[in-house]
Amino acid sequence: MVKKEIDFHDYIASVPDFPEPGIVFRDISPLMADGAAYSAATDRITEFAKAHGAEMICGPEARGFIVGCPVADRLGIGFAPARKKGKLPRETISVSYDLEYGEAQLFMHKDAVKPGQRVLVVDDLLATGGTIAATIKLVEQLGGIVVGTAFLIELTDLHGRDKIKDYDLFTLLQYSGS
Ligand code: PRP
Ligand code: MG
Repeated sequence: MVKKEIDFHDYIASVPDFPEPGIVFRDISPLMADGAAYSAATDRITEFAKAHGAEMICGPEARGFIVGCPVADRLGIGFAPARKKGKLPRETISVSYDLEYGEAQLFMHKDAVKPGQRVLVVDDLLATGGTIAATIKLVEQLGGIVVGTAFLIELTDLHGRDKIKDYDLFTLLQYSGS
């Protein structure tokens, strides 16, 4: 039997005016709720990770965990979390990055990545690129080699990929405008 090709767009809910007027929120929870679709999306990122010889997956809190942990599990490799302030109990390094209003910080444990380790950095969504650029910086400060970045969704109008031009990039879906 031929396996039906999944259109991943069918599993993203577009919610107008969330979290504020004028923004269309791309909600991945219908994808996560469907075992076959979540697994197929994980397969695609796993193939990319394998092709790039990833030895570790890293993703930023919180939705980066949803995307990255199943990929790490598929490959039998580790997952290194980048977390928001006040969450990691041992010695950390941190990077600050700009949000639309104000500044945010991400942290990693100092031993989360080994020097020379090949790391794929993943997240659910590429918007302005601030979050992924900060995560890449953390991995590189720890001596990791970032072999690529992977996302479920890219919001192309925000040109986040321009911030991470030096890295090979995989996106399952792209959205422009609303
Ligand atoms: C969202 C999303 C990405 C980031 C993308 O995370 O999950 O991580 O924004 O935006 P950027 O490319 O402009 O940086 P958010 O900070 O809302 O937190 P969450 O993952 O904990 O929900
Ligand atoms: Mg996030």
